[in-house]
Amino acid sequence: MKKEVPGFVKWAGGKKQLLGQFKNYFPKQINRYLEPFVGGGSVAFSIIKNHMPKEIIISDSNEELINAYEVIRDNTGELIEKLKQYKNAHNKDNYYKARDLQPGKLNKIERAARFIYLNKSCFNGLYRVNSSGKFNVPIGSSKHPAILMEDDLKEISALLQNVTVKALPFENVANYAKTGDFIYLDPPYYPLKKGKSFTTYTKEAFLEKEQEKLSEVFRSLDKKGCKIMLSNSDTDFIKKLYKGYNINTVQASRMINSDATKRGKISELVIRNYE
Ligand SMILES: C[S@@+](CC[C@H](N)C(=O)[O-])C[C@H]1O[C@@H](n2cnc3c(N)ncnc32)[C@H](O)[C@@H]1O
Repeated sequence: MKKEVPGFVKWAGGKKQLLGQFKNYFPKQINRYLEPFVGGGSVAFSIIKNHMPKEIIISDSNEELINAYEVIRDNTGELIEKLKQYKNAHNKDNYYKARDLQPGKLNKIERAARFIYLNKSCFNGLYRVNSSGKFNVPIGSSKHPAILMEDDLKEISALLQNVTVKALPFENVANYAKTGDFIYLDPPYYPLKKGKSFTTYTKEAFLEKEQEKLSEVFRSLDKKGCKIMLSNSDTDFIKKLYKGYNINTVQASRMINSDATKRGKISELVIRNYE
């Protein structure tokens, strides 16, 4: 069976499993689409495939991730060759050699291949950096991780051909919005319990202050006449921030306790400024 959307990285908070429920909440017509926290891209790929917006801007503050989007769009063949080399040479020594490379010293294609390789072969497949921004996840247990997903990369490249890709903080992406645009916001979630947050996609944390700033951006986009949909944790803090907007819940299957083997159903919020 053909997959609903392709993928190229495993990303914490991925929305692939929620696309079926999200369909009820997306606007019918999408002319311009902006996604400032694009992550692994499952929502963007679904919107591009099913709604074919005329103009699309995706962004994320994680520069490694955004470089990978650009290389998949513009240099698919060379990227596939590099990933083949990584796949053929995969073992513990080479994993740690790749992890020790400094991405800033590599060319764009080598940098994207290293990023995808590490994401696919690391423990739990989660991108995590330490406080100085260095990727610090140990090798995963699989002997044959899916390092090269050629069909997905080709499909994503085709989907991205007319897409503008940026590496900006969310508030700067909002400057590109125009009346009538559809904007999906999927920030790092507000933690369910204090101290239990997963806010390590980038070296900057995303706490109360950032959630409040985001709610101000939401309000200013609302005033501008954009349609906005936002995902977040089902918590009183978030419900209070978006009081007066249209709030629904969806059911997601997520890792509980930080133990990858324990998954549970959890309610998450979908907040919109339209019916
Ligand atoms: C929940 S994830 C998005 C998940 C994505 N929708 C998916 O399906 O994979 C949140 C994303 O926000 C990004 N991010 C964190 N802080 C940010 C900021 N201040 N501005 C823009 N992006 C940020 C992270 O790098 C991460 O990719």
